[in-house]
Amino acid sequence: MLACTLNANAATRERLSLDRGWLFHQGDLVEPPIVGHEESYSNAKAGNAGGAAGNEYDDSDWRRLNLPHDWAVEGPFDPKANVAQGYRPRGIGWYRRYLKVDPADRGKYFELQFDAIATHATVWVNGNVVNRNWSGYNASYIDITPYLRYGDSLNTIAIRVDAEAMEGWWYEGAGIYRHSWLVKRSPVHVITDGVHATPRQVKGKQWSIPVEVTLNNSGKTTGDVTVEVTVFDPAGKQVAKRTERASVNVLATSAVKLPVTINDPALWSIEKTNLYRVTTRVLQAGKVVDETSLHTGFRTIHFDAAQGFFLNGVHVKLQGVCIHQDHAGVGVAVPISIWEYRLRRLKEMGVNAIRFSHNAVASEVLDLVDRMGFVVMDENRNFNPSPDYMKQLEWMVKRDRHHPGIILWSVFNEEPVQATEVGYEMVRRMAAVVKSLDDTRPVTAAMNGGFLTELNVSHAVDVVGSNYQVKDYDRYHKAHPNKPFTSSEDTSAFMTRGEYKTDKEKNLISSYDDDAAKWGNTHRDAWQAIDTRPFVAGGFVWTGFDYRGEPTPNEWPSVSSVFGIMDMNGFAKTAYYIHQVQWIKDKPLIHIAPHWNWTKGENVRVMVMANVETIKLLLNGRELGEQKVDPYRMNNFNVAFEPGKLEAIGYKGGKEVVRTAVETTGEAVSLELIPDRAQLTGDGLDALPITVRALDAQGRAVPLAQNEVTFAVTGGGRSIGHGNGDPNSHEDEKGATRRLFNGLAQLIVQTNYEAGDDVTVTATAAGLKAARVTIPVKRVAAVPYVEPADAPLTFVRSWRIAPDGDARPDPNQTLAAFDMNTWGWGSPPMRAAAGGKYHLYRASFTPRKNLADGTGLIRFAAIKGKAEIWLNGQLIGKKDSYAAAPLDVTLPAGSGKCEINVLIEAEAGQGSGIEGDVTIEPSK
Ligand code: GAL
Repeated sequence: MLACTLNANAATRERLSLDRGWLFHQGDLVEPPIVGHEESYSNAKAGNAGGAAGNEYDDSDWRRLNLPHDWAVEGPFDPKANVAQGYRPRGIGWYRRYLKVDPADRGKYFELQFDAIATHATVWVNGNVVNRNWSGYNASYIDITPYLRYGDSLNTIAIRVDAEAMEGWWYEGAGIYRHSWLVKRSPVHVITDGVHATPRQVKGKQWSIPVEVTLNNSGKTTGDVTVEVTVFDPAGKQVAKRTERASVNVLATSAVKLPVTINDPALWSIEKTNLYRVTTRVLQAGKVVDETSLHTGFRTIHFDAAQGFFLNGVHVKLQGVCIHQDHAGVGVAVPISIWEYRLRRLKEMGVNAIRFSHNAVASEVLDLVDRMGFVVMDENRNFNPSPDYMKQLEWMVKRDRHHPGIILWSVFNEEPVQATEVGYEMVRRMAAVVKSLDDTRPVTAAMNGGFLTELNVSHAVDVVGSNYQVKDYDRYHKAHPNKPFTSSEDTSAFMTRGEYKTDKEKNLISSYDDDAAKWGNTHRDAWQAIDTRPFVAGGFVWTGFDYRGEPTPNEWPSVSSVFGIMDMNGFAKTAYYIHQVQWIKDKPLIHIAPHWNWTKGENVRVMVMANVETIKLLLNGRELGEQKVDPYRMNNFNVAFEPGKLEAIGYKGGKEVVRTAVETTGEAVSLELIPDRAQLTGDGLDALPITVRALDAQGRAVPLAQNEVTFAVTGGGRSIGHGNGDPNSHEDEKGATRRLFNGLAQLIVQTNYEAGDDVTVTATAAGLKAARVTIPVKRVAAVPYVEPADAPLTFVRSWRIAPDGDARPDPNQTLAAFDMNTWGWGSPPMRAAAGGKYHLYRASFTPRKNLADGTGLIRFAAIKGKAEIWLNGQLIGKKDSYAAAPLDVTLPAGSGKCEINVLIEAEAGQGSGIEGDVTIEPSK
């Protein structure tokens, strides 16, 4: 049964989470080849997909789980697996789920939505292939209305996921790793992503939203409707409203234009994220039949060839990062609340721009981006203007164009044909499609060179994106002074968090920002090159966070990248502070690298990062020197180590404005757990990271601690994984233990759907005092969802019907395998009008393994007429009355395919038949 509906729009549209109650099988399931005529004929028919794709499949021993799910991160590391995918074997997997649909919903429009599946996915509903999605970053919206069965007759969703397929050279995960939904709408409804509401400035303070609403009608009569669009300001006050009449033909779509004017809206900016709500309602005969909302924002963007980027007329240097989508412990199945944490970490560092490289991100992440204040380069994955791939690009633009944060559409990242006519022709087509869907933003492409040749991709875009190529910045600008230009990717420097000495044997790289890829630059060099050139709109550091795969410059045993400004948990490396002092101007900041646990007499390089005028360094109160702040290089000191306190003080106008210190710690004596937030929401979705540290006797974090910690989580939540930022760690990310790496680890806990109790986390480690923390769980109503539907039953659905007659037929007579036409075809309910006395029905089925012992029942919901039930040539049950009634027959012990024959004798002058479902199920 569908969960009781808590949706405010219940009367109109219900968007129900379909994350719960899936069955999963890792590995492929290949059916033996079909050789017989009957099977070949049957295989070619709608609804008859076989094996795990089919209606009936014995999935009783499959693993039960809730989505989102990434099976690759659950698995082992394998030195023979793909380095780019972080040495994680991926493979093929199957998911199945059953769905019960209320007969009261008959006539509604039902859509399945998968926000993303890695990587190639084929979806069947009730044995019909209903969708193929060949990108791991695109959503699938699937109309399942025609295939549905209502009431107790379960529906089957089956999905084969091929994660051998790769679209990237980074870790891509495996499985249904974003959310899934079942959306119920009335027959006349707004299609998914069907509201185009992208504001544009008309003149001065006058703006318009040229709203266009696309409607569809799955009903049986023309839909005469009124479409109503209402715009609400950030305070919830209505600021515009417009209605239009529309007529939507049967099984057709229709686009309705409802431009609205908004005067003097509160502008959206990075600092003030004013968001307006656009609500669209469809009314039929005065009744609201569909309703949907989105948010948008008013802002102008402009890329100037000489001066870079302007937001609302104000110059903004893009202080950007590129990011992939995996996080410690969870792979690519990253809870939205963990995304909030990730973005918050970026914000705290002074990031104002994000490039989601190199693919569309989850839509909830773009909602966060708009709310938290970032501008975004939204990037298409597959570079290909053929129809299938163009659909991927169109989907991204349609889904995302209302987000005020998005300022650039990127059609590709680094394509070898970028400097050729072919590349140019391909981009020209893709850019045109983008423009046809949204002409308010420039199109770019991230080129790693080639933009100085005679004909290349840069001629087909509005803003030239340069990946690396710093040496060509000035040459390009000189040759094309009127073409806007930005770095689309830069830096690619290496640092292992918490390491300050490079150890090539151990694949460890020091964190003084000295090492970069040959094609890249150190953090400091890259930013200096960008910041000192006004024509370069800004930069996008490769990358904000470490990610699995691309362990460049290393290989096995390194399994994740070291490009990150932060590690995979969001723990800061030195690069974090370098950028923070460069990017945050409105408050004084100062940091010291490294920690202060060294050997006496050792010479230690100290880097002080500050955004003030001068700094002073003191060791145990003794002044070591004063330096003018170098905003690009940072400030370096050579200090002979002595234990104690190393302090840095920052001055402005000769006055102290900020100070910081690092201290030599003692041995670790206890553990500490620091939850990122004070409370969890008990919706089964909310997750938070908990920092795990070791402390010395004086309560100071021990920077080099490497203790192995064991976690226990009780109450209304559970661990969904952990990490420590060590690119060389092969620990199980889901297990009970995790070693600290240079003093830190992170545990991620998520509330349970069944929540209730607060969550208590305990951390223990040999020789250390344990830590324990309780996180209160706020009770909230669950996100409306579809109740899991168990299928301990097999439905016998595909029947042959012999011609009726007055002479009793042999129920076990042979029907030639090539005879597709003498007998008819049917599926319960099968009712015969009064006529011949005898009616013979035949089907076959394979009972589930657990019924092989004779504990199964063949259950007829209703048979009208007297009946004999024959199984594999044996009479196993009888019904002696003519009246319609249920019948249960014991399924004899045994396994394998069975043939069932039902012979019905009709009462004279009466109808007869198998009037309800026939199921094979355990006897209770
Ligand atoms: C770039 C590429 C990124 C990443 C990076 C590593 O060429 O766009 O995806 O591979 O190099 O430096």
